[in-house]
Amino acid sequence: MLTRSVEPDVRCQPAGNLHPLIAGRWSPRAYDPTYVIEESSLRNMLEAARCTPSNRNSQPWRFRVGRRGDEVFDGLLAALTPGNRLWAASASMLICGSAARCDESGEPLRWASYDLGQAIAYLTVQAMSEGLYVRQMAGFDPAVIRLGRDVPTGFDPWIVVAVGALGDPERLPARWQAEEGAGRVRTELRLLVSEAAVPHHTG
Ligand SMILES: Cc1cc2nc3c(=O)[nH]c(=O)nc-3n(C[C@H](O)[C@H](O)[C@H](O)COP(=O)(O)O)c2cc1C
Repeated sequence: MLTRSVEPDVRCQPAGNLHPLIAGRWSPRAYDPTYVIEESSLRNMLEAARCTPSNRNSQPWRFRVGRRGDEVFDGLLAALTPGNRLWAASASMLICGSAARCDESGEPLRWASYDLGQAIAYLTVQAMSEGLYVRQMAGFDPAVIRLGRDVPTGFDPWIVVAVGALGDPERLPARWQAEEGAGRVRTELRLLVSEAAVPHHTG
């Protein structure tokens, strides 16, 4: 079980000279329900995922892309938990990320989900650079996704990713409005790294 020592989570004010795409990233729920993502932006995001490092360069990821209003989007939306469905319907795209179980010789790919996670991180940063935002979702029913043929044989769906342009938070259900854009909450760095290894920032 994951245990936490005393000190708590705090509002994340990134210290140091972080890249703006990392410092400014957060996961919205409010998306512009009219925004259409350009083909070139989608292409760049998928290229970023393709360039991600993976164990033995196995590249064990696959992506199923649905655009709001198309059949793939509707299928992925239907697989989401009711709570996720409420806000994700406004996203411009839903992308299902899946990872291979085995390589061509039948050898299990133990790091495939780790590799997929990195690919989604690359995709996310590229999305930010295209002026878009991403919120990932583990809240979906994998059986529904499989039935929708969104995942190739031998792969497992791990994540559904909502992508879009920022929308109006006031259109969200009340329970999410305060959280939207309120800043990220994170465990303090000194609790994550042995103290001697955490350099002090000088300015
Ligand atoms: C693997 C994974 C699964 C997640 N699943 C959901 C989800 O089902 N629904 C949701 O609203 N957010 C989900 N999130 C978003 C997280 O709640 C969010 O990233 C976290 O609270 C940190 O906030 P930030 O991304 O704004 O920094 C998920 C994020 C990750 C990485």
